[in-house]
Amino acid sequence: MKLLKDRILNDGKSLAGGILKVDNFINHQMDPVLMKSIAVEFVRRFADLPINKIITIEASGIAPAIMLGYLLELPVVFVKKAKPKTMGDMYVSEVHSFTKNRTYDICVSKEFLSADDKVLFIDDFLANGNAAFGMLDLIQQSGAALLGMGFIIEKSFQEGGKRLRELSDIRIESLARIKSLEVDKVSFEED
Ligand code: G4P
Ligand code: NA
Ligand code: NA
Repeated sequence: MKLLKDRILNDGKSLAGGILKVDNFINHQMDPVLMKSIAVEFVRRFADLPINKIITIEASGIAPAIMLGYLLELPVVFVKKAKPKTMGDMYVSEVHSFTKNRTYDICVSKEFLSADDKVLFIDDFLANGNAAFGMLDLIQQSGAALLGMGFIIEKSFQEGGKRLRELSDIRIESLARIKSLEVDKVSFEED
């Protein structure tokens, strides 16, 4: 997606350790006009799938997910990163983030994810993919069908994309695929 790649080149910052800082338009300050264009592109790429619900993980997945849910007029569920005391029956999975070097539980109420659902998972980044694998686990526990996974940015030099694509034939779409990140230099895959 050219608009997104250009924005990454203009406003993203490549940090040491293979981290791309995009807190000027995605992770802290957000650009709703860009986010709408991102959602339109997800609609285009997933339009043929019989999705009934969008699912994401708090916090940074919520913005693209709700834009997409708005366009498709579908409910959006965000998985939580801490077990709320007030939540009744829920599915829980453990995620270890290499990027942030911490382990946390993700959870979703059984009320909002069930075997009747055909879901599309949306998130901001695909890195090593542990968050996505935790999500797969929750979806499997619920019996819902996962029809697709959409990421704004995939760092294809990390293993997440490869691991997910090997695991299943679920459709995975990343709007900007980053081949390499050197300090002050971002290179994209050819697609
Ligand atoms: P991991 O297995 O390598 O930890 O990667 P995963 O894909 O699970 O991502 C872990 C967290 O790190 C996610 O955010 C993800 O968005 C973020 N992340 C990974 N690589 C980058 C990067 O290069 N730049 C930025 N800005 N974020 C990156 P999270 O912990 O879920 O936080 P939130 O922002 O969604 O609240
Ligand atoms: Na995220
Ligand atoms: Na993030």
